Amino acid sequence: MERKEHERKKNKTGIIAVSFILLMAAAFLLRPSKAEEEIVPEYVFSYAENQAQDYPTTLGAMKFAEMVEERTQGRIRILVYAEGSKGAEAEVIRQMKFGGVDFARVSLSQLAEYIPEMNVLQMPYLYTDSEHMWRVLDGEIGVSFLSLADEYDLVGLSWYDAGARNFYTANRPVTCLEDIEGMRIRVQESEMMADMVEALGANAVKIAYADVYSGIERGLVDGAENNWPSYESMKHDEVARYYTVDEHTRVPEMQICSGKTWEKLSGEDRDIILECARESALYERALWKEREDASKQTAILHGVTVIELSAEEKKRFQTAVQSVYEKYCGDQMEIIARIIDEGQDAPK
Ligand code: GCU
Repeated sequence: MERKEHERKKNKTGIIAVSFILLMAAAFLLRPSKAEEEIVPEYVFSYAENQAQDYPTTLGAMKFAEMVEERTQGRIRILVYAEGSKGAEAEVIRQMKFGGVDFARVSLSQLAEYIPEMNVLQMPYLYTDSEHMWRVLDGEIGVSFLSLADEYDLVGLSWYDAGARNFYTANRPVTCLEDIEGMRIRVQESEMMADMVEALGANAVKIAYADVYSGIERGLVDGAENNWPSYESMKHDEVARYYTVDEHTRVPEMQICSGKTWEKLSGEDRDIILECARESALYERALWKEREDASKQTAILHGVTVIELSAEEKKRFQTAVQSVYEKYCGDQMEIIARIIDEGQDAPK
């Protein structure tokens, strides 16, 4: 009897032990793989972008975020807030001064409101073409202007492309200087852009990017000015059916980081961020070329009228804006001369 009881106990212990081993083995086999393990990032940063999800600058931002996360083994995660969900550009830049937003891609026009020396790089009819602008931005001048951002407690990371800007109007086409005279034209919240439009004889109305469509639709303005992708992406082609190609400005975009955020990072992380920013810029620039063309074709398909200014007429536009150079570049004429020089070096 006692022996039977002993046997029973022994068997029970055996079953428990085997079950335990099986359980442990199952747990081991079913454990999450390294890739599935939730990596808790050391930093989660925000990145503000005012364009749509499929826009070249947004795709560039996503690429940047992805590369940073990968190269820091998940220690730094960057969340991209597109479609202006962090606010209008002017507000984003203001917030960045205090570290309210960590990263952003902004138009130089907007940045120049805080760092006026930046205006030199977006002067009207300054670059002969895209290659000319990139020779300047990829060279010494571009590097020194990136570092100018520290004047506003920002770190300039890289340059993104935004092509050339042109006028577009709702009710009447602009074919010559006289046509634009007296028109109300939307400009960015930029003093220089307002002065440029006024020098052409129009009235400048400052409106944030997100409100341009309704501004034109409601007749608050007669037109606006922007590159092909913005015109098409924001559906401005629905309300402004005349697009006049005069390429009055090439306004590059800058990828920036808040100085407050930068202070938190180690030297190694800063290098990774700079490297990823530059690589993402090359990616964005390639996407830009395709999108510029595609947007133009889409707008034409939508039936907009494209007006090409004659060389003679363009010269009149150029002459009309000379006063803006005097006002904004008085003490920077040497840099202007260097930029113009770069254009003349163009390989034929
Ligand atoms: C471009 C630029 C935007 C800017 C906009 C504007 O689309 O990419 O960042 O806000 O111009 O005209 O306001």
